[in-house]
Amino acid sequence: MTTDLYCVMGHPVAHSRSPWIHARFAALTGQALAYEARLVPLGGFAPAVRGFAAQGGRGCNVTVPFKQQAAALADSRSERVAQAGAANTLVLQGGRIHADNTDGLGLVADIEQGAGVLLAGRDVLLVGAGGAAAGVLAPLLARAPRRIVVCNRTPLRAQELAVRHQGIASLSKTELLALDQQALEADFDIIINATSSSLSGGPPPIPPQVLRAGSLAYDMMYGPQAQGFLDWAAAHGALARDGLGMLVEQAAESFALWRGVRPPSAPVLAELRALLAP
Ligand code: ATR
Repeated sequence: MTTDLYCVMGHPVAHSRSPWIHARFAALTGQALAYEARLVPLGGFAPAVRGFAAQGGRGCNVTVPFKQQAAALADSRSERVAQAGAANTLVLQGGRIHADNTDGLGLVADIEQGAGVLLAGRDVLLVGAGGAAAGVLAPLLARAPRRIVVCNRTPLRAQELAVRHQGIASLSKTELLALDQQALEADFDIIINATSSSLSGGPPPIPPQVLRAGSLAYDMMYGPQAQGFLDWAAAHGALARDGLGMLVEQAAESFALWRGVRPPSAPVLAELRALLAP
């Protein structure tokens, strides 16, 4: 049996858990593949992908800061990539590059299956309007929540994101709007932090009245970077969840795209949580 080659490309990339996750998926599904982390120089993304394909690479995950470049570089792209303008998964086949984005599917799977909260009919607050928020909005809308409010420090970016997704929102009969932080009064069933505000050590960029006892407060980051938001949410009675499950689920979606086999994500998430426990 030949061993197929995959990798994750980023800058930085040493922290990536993807090689560990994909090794577990390969072991659990009996797939013969090798998956490594590749540090790509800033400005060197396109040659790195082409070089990897020339070496026989079958696919790669793409992380910060190359997701937009990955979408632009591809010969073909999924509808999800067209919507998000960013790709996290490349399929390399026959000299062609196909781009997909599994981040939003991973988030939806972790909210619905991991946390056990169905999105249909719910009121959702999406905080942030950068690449991370853009990558998940269409898959969230596809689950037909009642309402999604996008709120961002720079309101214009939130408005642009909402306008761009109105067509998909109407398909799922979801009310989609952008609101300034000062206009956030109602409480929400699900609050998703897609900002990088915790990286600068600041408080969450939303007022606590958006939370109520029992709502799900989800940070798309994990580890120390998510802790400030999770502590704040738990202190206000919300169910706080970090993005580790999203990480495993987006990897599972990528693995399924490449291999045609969906790996079991729940046991791998449990193992990873145990591995990372302080
Ligand atoms: P990413 O790809 O991680 O989303 P990005 O495109 O730089 O990165 O977007 C970062 C997001 O975090 C944006 O929504 C940004 O708000 P602005 O659009 O106003 O820049 C948000 N963000 C970053 N630092 C923040 C802070 N200290 N407070 C509030 N929002 C912050």
